[in-house]
Amino acid sequence: MRKKIVAGNWKMNKNLAETNTLLSELTTKLKASSEVEIIVAPTFTNLYSATEVLKSSGITVAAQNMHEAENGAYTGEISADMLKSIGVETVILGHSERRAYFGETDQLLANKVNTALQHEMTIIFCFGEELQDRKSDNHFSIVEQQLKNGLFHITKANWKNVILAYEPVWAIGTGETASPEQAQEMHAFIRKTIANTYDQETADEVSILYGGSVKPNNAQEIFAKTDVDGGLIGGASLDAENFSAIVNAI
Ligand code: G3P
Repeated sequence: MRKKIVAGNWKMNKNLAETNTLLSELTTKLKASSEVEIIVAPTFTNLYSATEVLKSSGITVAAQNMHEAENGAYTGEISADMLKSIGVETVILGHSERRAYFGETDQLLANKVNTALQHEMTIIFCFGEELQDRKSDNHFSIVEQQLKNGLFHITKANWKNVILAYEPVWAIGTGETASPEQAQEMHAFIRKTIANTYDQETADEVSILYGGSVKPNNAQEIFAKTDVDGGLIGGASLDAENFSAIVNAI
């Protein structure tokens, strides 16, 4: 049975004190359960503190990115080994903001996927179409291309380390949430594409999260859809009340 997951992508928000305040609020509001995996992704400077604060909470700490190389002359970058050395074993890759603002290509992401898998990390692999892709009815082919070029080189065995996050770019930070039907349609397409490329067992086992303006008032309807296994939450994850409400909606 695939996992239900709610992950909070904090993006470039919260200094150390604010991080610790939010995390302590979350640990009083949320109890990790076997039914739902809860993940939070603070910024790099706060990851170690987060792993310490959340040590026995059952809440997973994830990084928002990492470099493809093992180490070397990459000023400002962070390696998989550095993340694992502080107890971070989950990493978000391919977020649309990385693709758009930092030029991350499918090939670069495929390399990062390989490095993360070599370090036995869990990957939250993000992808999703732009508004003009959907308007021109190209959203399915765009999503298929992102998956095939960035992820589908992995082996069947690697899929146990992969969580998918479908995030239509036009829904991120806009308040324009995809409808539950739109989310379900794309998630079902993604699962069918995995089944056709790998096999039905692999497709049925992978958790596919929806991201893009998930809020307490829309989470339940979206999460209730058959092929939606949870959410990757941005803005609403920065508030303990809102994030807890979304977790409890699954
Ligand atoms: O990674 C999740 C994020 O892109 C969604 O952001 O603010 O629309 O929930 P938001």
